[in-house]
Amino acid sequence: MEIREAGVIGCGLMGSGIAQVVATAGIPTIVVEVSQELCDRGMASIDKQFDRLVQKGALKTEERAAIRSRIRPTTDRAQLANCDLVIEAVVESLEEKKKLWEALDPILPRRAILGSNTSSLSITEMMKYTSRPERFLGIHFMNPVPVMKLVEVVRTVATDREVFESAMQFIERIGKTPVRTSDRPGFIVNRLLIPYLLDAIRALEQGTGSIADLDRSMQLGCGHPMGPFTLADFIGLDTTYYIANILFEEFREPRFAPPGLLKRLVLAGWHGRKAGKGFYDYSDPGAPKAQEHIYQI
Ligand code: NAI
Repeated sequence: MEIREAGVIGCGLMGSGIAQVVATAGIPTIVVEVSQELCDRGMASIDKQFDRLVQKGALKTEERAAIRSRIRPTTDRAQLANCDLVIEAVVESLEEKKKLWEALDPILPRRAILGSNTSSLSITEMMKYTSRPERFLGIHFMNPVPVMKLVEVVRTVATDREVFESAMQFIERIGKTPVRTSDRPGFIVNRLLIPYLLDAIRALEQGTGSIADLDRSMQLGCGHPMGPFTLADFIGLDTTYYIANILFEEFREPRFAPPGLLKRLVLAGWHGRKAGKGFYDYSDPGAPKAQEHIYQI
């Protein structure tokens, strides 16, 4: 199925990136937000990305204008009435997503493919809020969307095979690499990544090494671009903790159980880079300082 017009709902961190890459691939894209102010804010963040690309010489000014003209921000969901594919990237709340999908059902054309960018909610549970679960699937982009190549395409027990293949082709068309997965918590990436991050925290708790040395070891010993503590701070310790709990709830294996130190940092409000503090202190953003004292007596 060819996607001639796409819709993106929510123009926050992820939605703005998704709209940018879809429009860059030549597809007219309607972006829905809850207020004009949030539409403007989302478009401003897309413009900032384009500025950077133009400055780097990666995008010509004329191309930028053409891509920009393909993105239509609106607060009116009815504008989605002709979309072949809709990707929802609103806040991570089942209640919000439920309300949204129920409201969209009478608006979207019957042919439309419906995708959610959720990281941790059940696609299977969400599909029930539409009258066409066979056209519903997960389309999980990575942050930052314009940079990260991978997209997880998530099938439920009800997803139609052709719908799934069309979504796979769409992801390739927008220059990303899709992988196939099924609706289990964590999909592929978080299922493998989160226990690794939790294990690094347990190694710290057991005195295996310092924060700085554990990070350095994975960077220089395994060629990772960043160590586990830098990565956990980047993802957000609250998000890491939240996803770990969901994985543990599903699989009931100790490797998914969040360690006490992670819980205490979350309780302290030290949610990582965005909070200015986590395993590192970001008072000087150019030189984060490992908070080695957090696990010492
Ligand atoms: P965000 O908070 O930056 O953006 C969400 C946007 O949705 C906000 O601008 C909000 O105004 C808007 N919104 C809320 N309800 C709406 C509605 N009914 N209609 C239209 N817009 C609405 O959140 P973020 O980080 O972009 O996350 C969005 C989704 O993407 C979540 O499901 C999250 O789990 C998922 N995700 C997030 C990643 C991340 O690293 N932040 C990575 C991959 C997926």
